[in-house]
Amino acid sequence: MVLKCFCFSSEKEESPKSSVNKKRDYPWEVYTLKEILLATNNFHNDNKIGEGGFGSVYWGRTSKGVEIAVKRLKAMSPKAEMEFAIEVEILGRVRHRNLLGLRGFYAGEDERLIVYDYMPNHSLITHLHGQLSADCLLDWSRRMSIATGSAEGIAYLHHEANPHIIHRDIKASNVLLDSEFVAKVADFGFAKLIPDGVTHVTTRVKGTLGYLAPEYAMWGKVSESCDVYSFGILLLEIISTRKPLEKLPGGVKRDIVQWVTPFVQKGAFDQIADPRLKGKFDRAELKAAVMIAMRCTDGNPENRPCMIDVVEWLKGATGSRKEIKIVKNAVDETEDEDDIEDDETDYEGYVTDKSTRRMTGARAVARKKY
Ligand SMILES: Nc1ncnc2c1ncn2[C@@H]1O[C@H](COP(=O)(O)OP(=O)(O)OP(=O)(O)O)[C@@H](O)[C@H]1O
Ligand SMILES: [Mg+2]
Repeated sequence: MVLKCFCFSSEKEESPKSSVNKKRDYPWEVYTLKEILLATNNFHNDNKIGEGGFGSVYWGRTSKGVEIAVKRLKAMSPKAEMEFAIEVEILGRVRHRNLLGLRGFYAGEDERLIVYDYMPNHSLITHLHGQLSADCLLDWSRRMSIATGSAEGIAYLHHEANPHIIHRDIKASNVLLDSEFVAKVADFGFAKLIPDGVTHVTTRVKGTLGYLAPEYAMWGKVSESCDVYSFGILLLEIISTRKPLEKLPGGVKRDIVQWVTPFVQKGAFDQIADPRLKGKFDRAELKAAVMIAMRCTDGNPENRPCMIDVVEWLKGATGSRKEIKIVKNAVDETEDEDDIEDDETDYEGYVTDKSTRRMTGARAVARKKY
């Protein structure tokens, strides 16, 4: 499928059948297989948008003219089938401006289909590294609003959704963009659905390794702070358009935190921003966003902030600027490298010096002056 960028489109999507839903007391629709097959031209290859760990995604248009995206899940075991039903039930009720809402589903025989609103501006990954990166440059304010929106979606999952949801797969391809470039975090809750022993689990972990919190990658320890870490990586990616994990000549891999650390130490924030922005960004916002990302990617999960704080900080930095002064102070402190090595101050702003000292390994060496 050829991707188009709907930079100026204000196309309104039809909301789910609210009158019917009110009567039924659930917010999603149960689709018939016939409807979905018709909408997607029998899952025609031309309708295929992409493929992920859970299955393939197809574009479609319903008989009412509504554009949809259908995720066709890979074959499932009976146990996974039960979980699918539970997850759909839970996820169908989760509603937030920055989460990709479930429009409906189909479950029958061998098919498990999930129907979402189609996002005309595709995923963040296509804008940062993919097909749309050349012809539709995301400007600075759009980048910051996508970052803030994504953070708000994750904060909702962590703190307001009932039961609370840990996403476990925050990454650029799971942030979709609507016609107004509002960020919609997708695929929350579905990480659990991957059956044990299925090969794509390994591929998935490999594919998203750059986003994984160290304690999750090494010991499988899952908590909200794993999502916070992944969000920090995503934030650095949004700012710099660097990939979370880069292969250096000689095959050595370098993660984005290792790449960014020397610039932060030198206070060379301008060099962190995507060069394609050609300097068109707010310097104070850039510094603040980088510092927030550094806090989120702290090697020790206990030192990472919660997503509510992250949202507040991002909003403070880009909106009302209530907190910008704190960030500025923190950055100013770090710019004087001689003072920092022995400074035990626990900053109130975005930099907790002590936390970096507790880190071990290459990361600690890389950040020891910070
Ligand atoms: N509602 C949607 N509207 C538009 N594009 C979508 C929609 N849902 C998914 N996509 C796109 O389809 C592609 C495949 O998505 P999918 O979620 O299956 O894989 P992924 O995000 O790459 O990996 P993962 O399985 O970890 O989520 C991605 O490029 C994604 O951006
Ligand atoms: Mg996805």
